[in-house]
Amino acid sequence: MTMVEWLPHDLQQAVAAERRRWLVTGAAGFIGSNLVEALLALGQEVVGLDNFATGHRRNLDEVLATTQGGSFRMVEGDIRDRAACAEAAAGVGVVLHQAALGSVPRSIADPLTSHDVNVTGFANMLEAARSAGVPRFVYAASSSTYGDEPHLPKREERIGNPLSPYAATKLANEIYAGVWARSYGYRATGLRYFNVFGPRQDPDGPYAAVIPKWVAAMIADEEIVINGDGETSRDFCFVANAVQANLRAALAPDAAQGEVYNVAVGERTSLKRLFGLLRDGLAEHGMVYAREPRFGPARAGDVRHSEADIGKAGSLLNYRPTHSLGAGLAAALPWYVRNR
Ligand SMILES: NC(=O)c1ccc[n+]([C@@H]2O[C@H](COP(=O)([O-])OP(=O)(O)OC[C@H]3O[C@@H](n4cnc5c(N)ncnc54)[C@H](O)[C@@H]3O)[C@@H](O)[C@H]2O)c1
Repeated sequence: MTMVEWLPHDLQQAVAAERRRWLVTGAAGFIGSNLVEALLALGQEVVGLDNFATGHRRNLDEVLATTQGGSFRMVEGDIRDRAACAEAAAGVGVVLHQAALGSVPRSIADPLTSHDVNVTGFANMLEAARSAGVPRFVYAASSSTYGDEPHLPKREERIGNPLSPYAATKLANEIYAGVWARSYGYRATGLRYFNVFGPRQDPDGPYAAVIPKWVAAMIADEEIVINGDGETSRDFCFVANAVQANLRAALAPDAAQGEVYNVAVGERTSLKRLFGLLRDGLAEHGMVYAREPRFGPARAGDVRHSEADIGKAGSLLNYRPTHSLGAGLAAALPWYVRNR
């Protein structure tokens, strides 16, 4: 199946009913390229903005080769460059702002570059959209904003102290979005993603996310190290759920704009259990991984447990995740098997 077929029918119809121009920043990245794919399949006009810092041309090539309909224009540029932001935002109806440097460890190794891209770049993009009169601005926030707040499940109004430079940049996005609303009446909507996974998520490099990294290691029969005791848990969210949340937020009424929403499934899975699910899932593709994982030290800056309350996105955006972790893995694994 393709991304668009994973979206609820009513949402497909609502997006396809009107041809809009969408700007997807971070279009060559994992979530961005999945947004581009869905929008093109729904006949939309899409502008992509990316500097290929962590994204890949092959992601866009794959989307453009397999997706019929819509129209696509790429602006190769950096969100730290205000002129590039203004060029990309011209004449746009919706911004889906995904461009950022992800990864907690990357931000610990190089906090200032994460700051420049994630905070200054965010403000540049927000101001470019406001100046261009773009009616809707939806941006990628993060579950890392919950920081040291201990309660589960996480509810939007209850956050703690950020535990990493990355988390601070994502909290700063929400603070700036609030200030733009109060100072200029420009209401940007934040989506706090919880561990998104799926096709085109990069398995390579030191800052790869756990699912693509482990799948690649299993396929290559390499050792897997679990950071910590394996009981660290996450609310893993298949990318079709995140795409749904973006499109629902973009089309939601004015009253739902300017808020932040958890985007997840609402279930918690430990790393140990994730390991077992991936091993079993790959076995169904005839790939048997016989090794046991090694346990290493817990990672600095990591939150121990994470699980979302998704009630707010449900009631205000009509967000209903279509994929549990299991269903998402079943949908995503064939892509990894094909592409390794
Ligand atoms: N994947 C997750 O689990 C997750 C969780 C929480 C939040 N997020 C947020 O979602 C967004 C997308 O993440 P992703 O997982 O798709 O990561 P990704 O690295 O695949 O995509 C990010 C894209 O932004 C681009 N980019 C980076 N710096 C840029 C710059 N200066 N100018 C223009 N483009 C730039 C990259 O080249 C890349 O294509 C990010 O804002 C990330 O912080 C992701």
